[in-house]
Amino acid sequence: MAQERILIIGACGQIGVELTLALRNLYGNDNVIATDIRGEHELLKGSGPYEVLNAMDEPSILDLVRKEKITQIYLLAAMLSATGEKDPKRAWITNMQSVRQVLDIGVQEKLHKIYWPSSIAVFGQSTPRENTPQQTIIEPLTVYGISKYAGELWCQYYRQRWNLDVRSLRYPGLISWKSEPGGGTTDYAVEIYYDALRKGRYTSFLDKGTYLPMMYMDDAIRATIELMEAPSEQIKTNMAYNVSAMSFAPEEVAASIQKIIPDFQISYAPDFRQNIANGWPKSIDDSNARNDWGWQPDFDLDKMTKTMLKNLKTKL
Ligand code: SER
Repeated sequence: MAQERILIIGACGQIGVELTLALRNLYGNDNVIATDIRGEHELLKGSGPYEVLNAMDEPSILDLVRKEKITQIYLLAAMLSATGEKDPKRAWITNMQSVRQVLDIGVQEKLHKIYWPSSIAVFGQSTPRENTPQQTIIEPLTVYGISKYAGELWCQYYRQRWNLDVRSLRYPGLISWKSEPGGGTTDYAVEIYYDALRKGRYTSFLDKGTYLPMMYMDDAIRATIELMEAPSEQIKTNMAYNVSAMSFAPEEVAASIQKIIPDFQISYAPDFRQNIANGWPKSIDDSNARNDWGWQPDFDLDKMTKTMLKNLKTKL
Protein backbone atom coordinates (compact mmCIF):
# COMPACT_ATOMS: atom_id res chain seq x y z
CA MET A 1 0.00 0.00 0.00
CA ALA A 2 1.18 3.50 -0.82
CA GLN A 3 2.72 5.66 1.90
CA GLU A 4 0.13 7.51 3.97
CA ARG A 5 0.44 11.30 3.88
CA ILE A 6 -1.20 13.00 6.84
CA LEU A 7 -2.49 16.54 7.26
CA ILE A 8 -3.11 17.78 10.80
CA ILE A 9 -5.31 20.85 11.19
CA GLY A 10 -4.98 22.37 14.66
CA ALA A 11 -1.55 20.86 15.36
CA CYS A 12 -0.62 23.39 18.05
CA GLY A 13 -3.52 22.64 20.38
CA GLN A 14 -3.49 20.45 23.47
CA ILE A 15 -4.04 17.22 21.52
CA GLY A 16 -2.42 18.38 18.29
CA VAL A 17 1.14 18.80 19.55
CA GLU A 18 1.43 15.33 21.02
CA LEU A 19 -0.56 13.61 18.27
CA THR A 20 1.62 15.23 15.59
CA LEU A 21 4.79 14.00 17.30
CA ALA A 22 3.34 10.49 17.73
CA LEU A 23 2.20 10.30 14.09
CA ARG A 24 5.60 11.52 12.89
CA ASN A 25 7.22 8.67 14.82
CA LEU A 26 4.88 6.24 13.15
CA TYR A 27 4.70 7.52 9.57
CA GLY A 28 7.95 9.48 9.21
CA ASN A 29 8.47 13.18 9.90
CA ASP A 30 8.00 14.37 6.33
CA ASN A 31 4.74 12.47 5.87
CA VAL A 32 2.93 14.42 8.58
CA ILE A 33 2.15 18.03 7.61
CA ALA A 34 1.31 20.03 10.73
CA THR A 35 -0.83 23.17 10.39
CA ASP A 36 -2.46 25.63 12.76
CA ILE A 37 -3.78 29.19 12.64
CA ARG A 38 -1.05 30.05 15.15
CA GLY A 39 2.70 30.06 14.73
CA GLU A 40 4.50 26.77 15.23
CA HIS A 41 4.49 25.34 18.78
CA GLU A 42 7.97 25.13 20.38
CA LEU A 43 7.76 21.35 20.69
CA LEU A 44 7.01 20.88 16.99
CA LYS A 45 9.92 22.97 15.77
CA GLY A 46 12.44 20.93 13.79
CA SER A 47 10.26 17.80 13.86
CA GLY A 48 8.72 18.11 10.38
CA PRO A 49 6.85 20.31 7.88
CA TYR A 50 4.71 23.13 9.30
CA GLU A 51 2.34 25.63 7.67
CA VAL A 52 0.04 28.33 9.00
CA LEU A 53 -3.50 27.39 7.93
CA ASN A 54 -6.97 28.52 8.96
CA ALA A 55 -9.33 25.56 9.51
CA MET A 56 -12.11 27.64 7.89
CA ASP A 57 -10.17 28.27 4.68
CA GLU A 58 -11.45 25.50 2.41
CA PRO A 59 -9.56 26.52 -0.76
CA SER A 60 -6.22 26.57 1.07
CA ILE A 61 -6.93 23.19 2.71
CA LEU A 62 -7.81 21.73 -0.70
CA ASP A 63 -4.64 23.21 -2.26
CA LEU A 64 -2.50 21.73 0.48
CA VAL A 65 -4.19 18.32 0.20
CA ARG A 66 -3.42 18.24 -3.54
CA LYS A 67 0.06 19.71 -3.31
CA GLU A 68 1.15 17.36 -0.53
CA LYS A 69 -0.75 14.32 -1.89
CA ILE A 70 -2.53 13.96 1.45
CA THR A 71 -4.31 10.66 2.15
CA GLN A 72 -5.57 11.30 5.73
CA ILE A 73 -6.75 14.41 7.60
CA TYR A 74 -6.88 14.87 11.37
CA LEU A 75 -9.10 17.89 12.06
CA LEU A 76 -8.42 19.00 15.63
CA ALA A 77 -9.19 22.73 15.48
CA ALA A 78 -12.26 23.67 17.55
CA MET A 79 -13.60 26.08 20.15
CA LEU A 80 -14.04 24.18 23.44
CA SER A 81 -16.89 24.27 25.94
CA ALA A 82 -16.04 27.28 28.11
CA THR A 83 -14.81 29.51 25.27
CA GLY A 84 -17.78 28.40 23.19
CA GLU A 85 -20.29 29.64 25.79
CA LYS A 86 -18.71 33.10 25.61
CA ASP A 87 -19.29 33.35 21.86
CA PRO A 88 -21.84 30.71 20.81
CA LYS A 89 -22.29 31.93 17.23
CA ARG A 90 -18.59 31.87 16.52
CA ALA A 91 -18.21 28.48 18.19
CA TRP A 92 -21.00 27.03 16.07
CA ILE A 93 -19.60 28.38 12.80
CA THR A 94 -16.02 27.40 13.62
CA ASN A 95 -16.80 23.90 14.79
CA MET A 96 -19.36 23.05 12.09
CA GLN A 97 -17.93 24.67 8.99
CA SER A 98 -14.52 23.12 9.53
CA VAL A 99 -15.83 19.57 9.81
CA ARG A 100 -18.22 19.84 6.85
CA GLN A 101 -15.43 21.17 4.65
CA VAL A 102 -13.03 18.42 5.61
CA LEU A 103 -15.70 15.76 5.02
CA ASP A 104 -16.37 17.21 1.55
CA ILE A 105 -12.66 17.25 0.76
CA GLY A 106 -12.46 13.66 2.01
CA VAL A 107 -15.09 12.54 -0.52
CA GLN A 108 -13.84 14.70 -3.37
CA GLU A 109 -10.17 13.78 -3.00
CA LYS A 110 -10.90 10.13 -2.10
CA LEU A 111 -8.96 10.34 1.16
CA HIS A 112 -8.28 7.03 2.92
CA LYS A 113 -9.28 8.20 6.39
CA ILE A 114 -10.38 11.20 8.42
CA TYR A 115 -10.14 11.72 12.16
CA TRP A 116 -12.33 14.22 13.96
CA PRO A 117 -12.69 14.33 17.75
CA SER A 118 -15.98 14.37 19.61
CA SER A 119 -16.40 14.80 23.35
CA ILE A 120 -18.28 13.81 26.50
CA ALA A 121 -19.88 17.25 25.99
CA VAL A 122 -22.40 15.62 23.61
CA PHE A 123 -24.20 14.31 26.71
CA GLY A 124 -26.62 16.46 28.68
CA GLN A 125 -28.67 16.47 31.86
CA SER A 126 -31.16 13.88 30.58
CA THR A 127 -28.35 11.36 29.99
CA PRO A 128 -27.69 8.73 32.70
CA ARG A 129 -24.66 10.25 34.44
CA GLU A 130 -23.00 7.17 35.89
CA ASN A 131 -21.42 4.79 33.42
CA THR A 132 -22.94 6.68 30.51
CA PRO A 133 -23.52 4.17 27.69
CA GLN A 134 -22.42 4.51 24.07
CA GLN A 135 -26.04 4.79 22.94
CA THR A 136 -28.28 6.80 25.22
CA ILE A 137 -30.34 9.98 25.43
CA ILE A 138 -28.21 12.74 23.90
CA GLU A 139 -29.39 16.30 24.52
CA PRO A 140 -26.32 18.54 24.78
CA LEU A 141 -26.70 21.87 26.58
CA THR A 142 -23.59 23.77 25.46
CA VAL A 143 -22.93 25.07 21.96
CA TYR A 144 -19.75 23.00 22.00
CA GLY A 145 -21.75 19.85 22.81
CA ILE A 146 -24.36 20.66 20.15
CA SER A 147 -21.63 21.17 17.55
CA LYS A 148 -19.92 17.91 18.52
CA TYR A 149 -23.14 15.93 18.33
CA ALA A 150 -24.16 17.53 15.05
CA GLY A 151 -20.63 16.78 13.78
CA GLU A 152 -21.00 13.13 14.79
CA LEU A 153 -24.24 12.97 12.81
CA TRP A 154 -22.55 14.51 9.78
CA CYS A 155 -19.71 12.00 10.06
CA GLN A 156 -22.28 9.20 10.18
CA TYR A 157 -23.98 10.67 7.11
CA TYR A 158 -20.74 10.78 5.12
CA ARG A 159 -19.83 7.24 6.20
CA GLN A 160 -23.18 5.89 5.06
CA ARG A 161 -23.79 8.00 2.00
CA TRP A 162 -20.26 8.31 0.61
CA ASN A 163 -18.50 5.40 2.27
CA LEU A 164 -16.01 7.85 3.73
CA ASP A 165 -13.83 6.29 6.44
CA VAL A 166 -14.21 8.90 9.17
CA ARG A 167 -13.49 7.89 12.76
CA SER A 168 -14.05 9.65 16.04
CA LEU A 169 -13.69 9.41 19.84
CA ARG A 170 -15.70 11.10 22.56
CA TYR A 171 -12.74 12.30 24.61
CA PRO A 172 -13.16 12.88 28.32
CA GLY A 173 -11.20 15.72 29.97
CA LEU A 174 -7.59 15.44 28.83
CA ILE A 175 -4.63 16.06 31.11
CA SER A 176 -1.19 16.84 29.71
CA TRP A 177 2.02 18.61 30.62
CA LYS A 178 3.59 19.17 27.18
CA SER A 179 0.91 21.34 25.58
CA GLU A 180 -1.58 23.63 27.26
CA PRO A 181 -5.37 23.10 27.14
CA GLY A 182 -7.50 25.92 25.77
CA GLY A 183 -10.87 26.93 27.10
CA GLY A 184 -12.33 23.69 28.43
CA THR A 185 -14.40 22.91 31.51
CA THR A 186 -12.04 20.10 32.49
CA ASP A 187 -8.93 22.35 32.37
CA TYR A 188 -8.88 22.66 36.18
CA ALA A 189 -7.35 19.18 36.25
CA VAL A 190 -4.34 20.54 34.36
CA GLU A 191 -4.07 23.94 36.13
CA ILE A 192 -4.04 22.24 39.51
CA TYR A 193 -0.67 20.57 38.79
CA TYR A 194 0.93 23.83 37.61
CA ASP A 195 -0.30 25.68 40.69
CA ALA A 196 0.71 22.84 43.02
CA LEU A 197 4.32 23.32 41.90
CA ARG A 198 4.29 27.11 41.53
CA LYS A 199 2.20 28.15 44.54
CA GLY A 200 1.51 25.08 46.66
CA ARG A 201 -2.22 25.80 46.46
CA TYR A 202 -5.03 25.91 43.90
CA THR A 203 -8.47 27.50 43.71
CA SER A 204 -10.69 25.21 41.66
CA PHE A 205 -13.36 26.68 39.38
CA LEU A 206 -15.31 23.43 39.82
CA ASP A 207 -16.74 22.56 43.20
CA LYS A 208 -15.91 19.70 45.52
CA GLY A 209 -17.76 16.56 44.48
CA THR A 210 -17.81 17.39 40.76
CA TYR A 211 -16.96 14.05 39.21
CA LEU A 212 -15.97 14.05 35.54
CA PRO A 213 -14.46 11.43 33.24
CA MET A 214 -10.77 12.14 32.58
CA MET A 215 -7.80 10.71 30.71
CA TYR A 216 -4.05 11.26 30.66
CA MET A 217 -2.81 12.46 27.27
CA ASP A 218 -0.61 9.41 26.57
CA ASP A 219 -3.73 7.26 26.77
CA ALA A 220 -5.68 9.69 24.56
CA ILE A 221 -2.98 9.64 21.88
CA ARG A 222 -2.77 5.85 21.98
CA ALA A 223 -6.58 5.55 21.81
CA THR A 224 -6.61 7.81 18.76
CA ILE A 225 -3.88 5.91 16.94
CA GLU A 226 -5.33 2.50 17.84
CA LEU A 227 -8.75 3.57 16.57
CA MET A 228 -7.25 4.87 13.32
CA GLU A 229 -5.10 1.77 12.78
CA ALA A 230 -7.90 -0.70 13.51
CA PRO A 231 -9.10 -2.70 10.47
CA SER A 232 -12.32 -1.11 9.21
CA GLU A 233 -14.40 -4.21 10.00
CA GLN A 234 -13.64 -3.59 13.71
CA ILE A 235 -15.27 -0.16 13.60
CA LYS A 236 -18.86 -1.02 14.43
CA THR A 237 -20.41 2.34 15.19
CA ASN A 238 -20.90 5.19 12.76
CA MET A 239 -20.87 7.60 15.67
CA ALA A 240 -17.91 8.53 17.91
CA TYR A 241 -16.73 5.92 20.43
CA ASN A 242 -17.01 6.48 24.17
CA VAL A 243 -13.51 6.12 25.67
CA SER A 244 -12.68 6.27 29.31
CA ALA A 245 -9.78 5.93 31.71
CA MET A 246 -10.68 7.37 35.14
CA SER A 247 -13.21 9.54 36.90
CA PHE A 248 -12.50 11.92 39.76
CA ALA A 249 -13.55 15.09 41.59
CA PRO A 250 -11.21 18.04 42.39
CA GLU A 251 -10.65 16.95 46.02
CA GLU A 252 -9.42 13.58 44.79
CA VAL A 253 -6.77 15.15 42.55
CA ALA A 254 -5.78 17.28 45.54
CA ALA A 255 -5.44 14.16 47.71
CA SER A 256 -3.37 12.50 45.02
CA ILE A 257 -1.06 15.54 44.84
CA GLN A 258 -0.79 15.62 48.66
CA LYS A 259 0.77 12.15 48.56
CA ILE A 260 3.76 13.86 46.88
CA ILE A 261 3.39 17.47 48.11
CA PRO A 262 1.89 17.04 51.62
CA ASP A 263 1.36 20.81 52.16
CA PHE A 264 -0.67 21.30 49.01
CA GLN A 265 -3.97 23.16 49.67
CA ILE A 266 -7.13 23.31 47.57
CA SER A 267 -10.03 25.78 47.79
CA TYR A 268 -13.15 26.18 45.68
CA ALA A 269 -14.65 29.12 43.77
CA PRO A 270 -17.05 27.61 41.22
CA ASP A 271 -17.82 29.84 38.22
CA PHE A 272 -19.97 29.48 35.06
CA ARG A 273 -18.08 26.29 34.18
CA GLN A 274 -19.76 24.52 37.11
CA ASN A 275 -23.06 24.64 35.18
CA ILE A 276 -21.42 23.05 32.18
CA ALA A 277 -19.88 20.30 34.31
CA ASN A 278 -23.23 19.65 36.03
CA GLY A 279 -24.68 18.56 32.69
CA TRP A 280 -21.91 16.12 31.84
CA PRO A 281 -21.45 12.45 32.78
CA LYS A 282 -19.57 11.49 35.94
CA SER A 283 -18.23 8.33 34.37
CA ILE A 284 -18.33 6.65 30.97
CA ASP A 285 -19.04 3.11 29.80
CA ASP A 286 -16.52 2.45 27.02
CA SER A 287 -17.15 -1.28 26.59
CA ASN A 288 -17.83 -0.85 22.85
CA ALA A 289 -14.33 0.57 22.32
CA ARG A 290 -12.87 -2.21 24.48
CA ASN A 291 -14.74 -4.96 22.62
CA ASP A 292 -14.49 -3.61 19.05
CA TRP A 293 -10.83 -2.53 18.85
CA GLY A 294 -9.32 -3.53 22.17
CA TRP A 295 -9.21 -0.20 24.03
CA GLN A 296 -7.47 -0.40 27.42
CA PRO A 297 -6.30 2.64 29.40
CA ASP A 298 -2.96 2.60 31.19
CA PHE A 299 -2.99 5.62 33.53
CA ASP A 300 -4.98 5.94 36.75
CA LEU A 301 -5.06 9.06 38.92
CA ASP A 302 -1.97 8.39 41.05
CA LYS A 303 0.16 7.26 38.11
CA MET A 304 -0.89 10.40 36.22
CA THR A 305 -0.14 12.65 39.21
CA LYS A 306 3.37 11.23 39.54
CA THR A 307 4.03 11.69 35.83
CA MET A 308 2.55 15.21 35.72
CA LEU A 309 4.48 16.49 38.74
CA LYS A 310 7.76 14.92 37.66
CA ASN A 311 7.61 16.35 34.13
CA LEU A 312 6.19 19.75 35.05
CA LYS A 313 8.90 20.21 37.65
CA THR A 314 11.52 19.93 34.93
CA LYS A 315 9.47 22.07 32.52
CA LEU A 316 8.90 24.89 35.02
N1 SER B 1 -12.18 19.02 27.71
C1 SER B 1 -13.31 19.46 26.95
C2 SER B 1 -13.90 20.68 27.54
O1 SER B 1 -13.82 20.86 28.72
C3 SER B 1 -14.34 18.38 26.88
O2 SER B 1 -14.35 17.88 25.60
O3 SER B 1 -14.47 21.46 26.85
